[in-house]
Amino acid sequence: MKKITIAIDGHSSCGKSTMAKDLAREIGYIYVDSGAMYRACTLYAMQHELISADGTVRTAELEAQMPQVEVSFSLNPTSGQPDTYLNGECVEAAIRTMEVSNLVSHVAALPFVREAMTRLQQQMGEAGGIVMDGRDIGTAVFPHAELKFFVTASDEIRAQRRFDELKAKGQQPDFDAVLRNLRERDHIDSTRAVNPLRQADDALVLDNSHMTKDEQREWLLERFKERIAR
Ligand code: DC
Repeated sequence: MKKITIAIDGHSSCGKSTMAKDLAREIGYIYVDSGAMYRACTLYAMQHELISADGTVRTAELEAQMPQVEVSFSLNPTSGQPDTYLNGECVEAAIRTMEVSNLVSHVAALPFVREAMTRLQQQMGEAGGIVMDGRDIGTAVFPHAELKFFVTASDEIRAQRRFDELKAKGQQPDFDAVLRNLRERDHIDSTRAVNPLRQADDALVLDNSHMTKDEQREWLLERFKERIAR
């Protein structure tokens, strides 16, 4: 059976990665977290002092160094999930900190960063059989994806989920700071000039504010089955 391309876009912290991962596992597809790629670029800029705490990027230097920024994924045999690598080093934990979250939208807004990551994402999806989540997957990376979802939930519910996730990782988050961060990221992501976050015309909308993970998994699986039966 032909394997299709599935794009999952939406707001920050609405559980896109979890649902994309679960769906991919269930249907035997590859899962790619495109946000992790922008986070890895941000970490590179931080490590090389090319970004300041207020989000100002030394764009000319970062652009010149982009060919040396190698982002890849490798399956972690223990977790069974792909880990993100930056120039051969596993950065899976380092890219999930609040420091990176606070700066990533500034780096992700740079056209040369988006060009490089979009190219890489398109190569990863060339053969189909992929579930990719992000902000512009159904609109810019795979505009011809056979199945597209646009996911959202209320700000407070998303902030609570992110807060719980950070706490579970042993971090000490502040709820208001988490809420501020996700609102700011959504604003920057939705208003940037290049490939902003927006709902593709042919995307199915999922507001999961009041859905359990199981209900959500069922719903996605149903939509997938309907799509491949066509
Ligand atoms: O999904 P995430 O929160 O890990 O994504 C991190 C940031 O990367 C997010 O603020 C917006 C950006 N991003 C993007 O611009 N385009 C994508 N396809 C994925 C993420």
